[in-house]
Amino acid sequence: MTKSKRICKAVLPVAGLGTRFLPATKAVPKEMLTIVDKPAIQHVVNEAKAAGIEHFVFVTGRNKGCIEDHFDHQFELEATLSAKKKTKELEALLAELPAAGQTSFTRQQAPLGLGHAVWCARDIVGNEPFALLLPDMLHHGKTSCLAEMVDAYEQTGGNLIAVSPVPEDQTHQYGIVGVEDAQSKVSRITGMVEKPPKGTAPSNLHITGRYVLEPEIFPLLERQEAGAGGEIQLTDAMIALSKNPQHPFHAVRFDGTIYDCGSKIGFLAANVAYALDREDLAPQLRTVIKDLI
Ligand code: G1P
Repeated sequence: MTKSKRICKAVLPVAGLGTRFLPATKAVPKEMLTIVDKPAIQHVVNEAKAAGIEHFVFVTGRNKGCIEDHFDHQFELEATLSAKKKTKELEALLAELPAAGQTSFTRQQAPLGLGHAVWCARDIVGNEPFALLLPDMLHHGKTSCLAEMVDAYEQTGGNLIAVSPVPEDQTHQYGIVGVEDAQSKVSRITGMVEKPPKGTAPSNLHITGRYVLEPEIFPLLERQEAGAGGEIQLTDAMIALSKNPQHPFHAVRFDGTIYDCGSKIGFLAANVAYALDREDLAPQLRTVIKDLI
C-alpha cells in the first residue's frame, strides 16, 4: 500500500432545515442551538481540530449566515471585552476561532440528500482524502472520535466509517454495516445498507456520522442516483466504491456515547451530559436533576 495522505480537510453538511426543532429553528440554524454554552457546531469543529483538521468546509443553505458569522471575528464584541478587561472571556472566544482562510462555505442549493451535500464540496476538497462529520451527531468520549479514525487511517489507508451498536429496533433509522470482526476496534467492512427495513439489518452497528473518505467518492456521487427516501444517499456511493478492492472500507468502533441531536431527546441528553463534564456546573446540576425527578 502506498503511504496514506494526511487528512487536512473536513466537510460539515449544515444545510438541513431543522424542522424537528421548529419554532426554535425558524430564524436560528439548528447547528447554532446550544449544547451548554457553545453552539452544537462548535463542539463538532473542536472534535475535528483535535484530529488535526486544518480546513473546515461548510455546506450551507439559505438562512445559515450566522454559522459563517460565528466562525469569524466579532470586532465590536472583542473590543468591548478587551476594554472591560474581560480577558478570560476574550481568550475563550479567540481560542475556538479558526484562523483566517481555514474555513470555506458553499451552498447545497437544493435539499437532495446527504450524498448531494457532500458532492457540493468536491471542488474545495479537491483530489485528497477528507473527513466528513455530520453535526447532528455529537460524539462524547474521552478522545475525539475523528482523532481515533485518523490514527486508524495511518494503518489502513482507504476509507473509514465510525460505527457503534444500536438497539435492534432502531437499525432502520441509520446506515448499518457488517464487519469481519465485530469485537475488534478496527475491522474491515463486509457490507453496508442505508436504513434497512425492520428485521433485515446485517448487524446492529450503525454509521454514526464520522467518515474518512477518498476523493474517488465524488465521481460516484456525481451520478446523482436517488436511493432510500428518494434522496441521493452517501451510503449508496460508498457501497459502489467499496466494490473496488483498491478502495477498502474499515469500521472504527466508537466506544463513547453518541447523542443524536437531530432528535429532541438526544439534544436534551447531550446538554445534560456535557454540563455534567463541567466542574463549574456539575454539582449544582446534579442537585437540580434529583429535585426534578
Ligand atoms: C445519515 C446517513 C446514515 C447515518 C446517519 C447518522 O442519515 O445516511 O447512514 O447512519 O446519517 O446520523 P440521516 O440522519 O441524514 O437520515
